[in-house]
Amino acid sequence: MAAVTALQGLRDKGRIQPGQKVLIDGASGGVGTFAIQIAKSFGAEVTAVCSTRNLDMARSIAADHVIDYTQEDFTKTGQRYDLILAVNGFHPILGYKRALNAGGTFVMAGGGMAQLFQIIFLGPLISMTGSKKFVNYVAQPNQKDLEFMAELLETGKVKPVIDRRYPLSEVAQAIRYVEDEHARGKVVITVEHNSKT
Ligand SMILES: NC(=O)c1ccc[n+]([C@@H]2O[C@H](COP(=O)([O-])OP(=O)(O)OC[C@H]3O[C@@H](n4cnc5c(N)ncnc54)[C@H](OP(=O)(O)O)[C@@H]3O)[C@@H](O)[C@H]2O)c1
Repeated sequence: MAAVTALQGLRDKGRIQPGQKVLIDGASGGVGTFAIQIAKSFGAEVTAVCSTRNLDMARSIAADHVIDYTQEDFTKTGQRYDLILAVNGFHPILGYKRALNAGGTFVMAGGGMAQLFQIIFLGPLISMTGSKKFVNYVAQPNQKDLEFMAELLETGKVKPVIDRRYPLSEVAQAIRYVEDEHARGKVVITVEHNSKT
């Protein structure tokens, strides 16, 4: 689900192209860690936005540039991008607009409620009145995209980042951990074989 969300956001909504400057906001979680690697596999130059403790991890999965959101607001640096995927997007929509190149696209997968309302109500208006496009979406899992991801995984172009593993009996703790919104990559539930339970 996380990988297909990243894939559909970048490829189908963002129309990612080789050589484009792509920024992933919220790059260190379940969707973001796939998004960095998928964007790289499409030949993009990738900037990952995450907190200090995740900078090295983002570099380790081939992000070309990293921005620590606790130190720097990328919407105010003057740097511009062709495609921004907001996985955990908490900036005002006009900040994202400022950080886009002319003709660029902003795609929102998730983030704050304020941003979601802004993109639903203001996104179409901004998209109609200028060259910058604003879209949000709900990922649609399907066999074709799972096969696409399977190929990227089998060829090693994408490697899942796994934070913690919990046994099935501790699934409640696992969900609580994920709900904190600071998991690094994915959290795995391990189902024991031959278990009496
Ligand atoms: N549109 C769709 O179809 C679709 C599908 C799946 C998921 N989603 C949505 O996408 C979002 C992300 O899903 P996910 O599974 O990747 O979540 P997740 O794994 O819980 O994301 C956790 C990551 O978010 C980062 N984060 C938290 N606050 C941030 C901030 N202010 N700026 C940048 N990064 C921040 C954290 O990094 P730090 O610890 O470094 O802060 C952490 O690594 C969720 O809102 C989810 O509901 C949408």
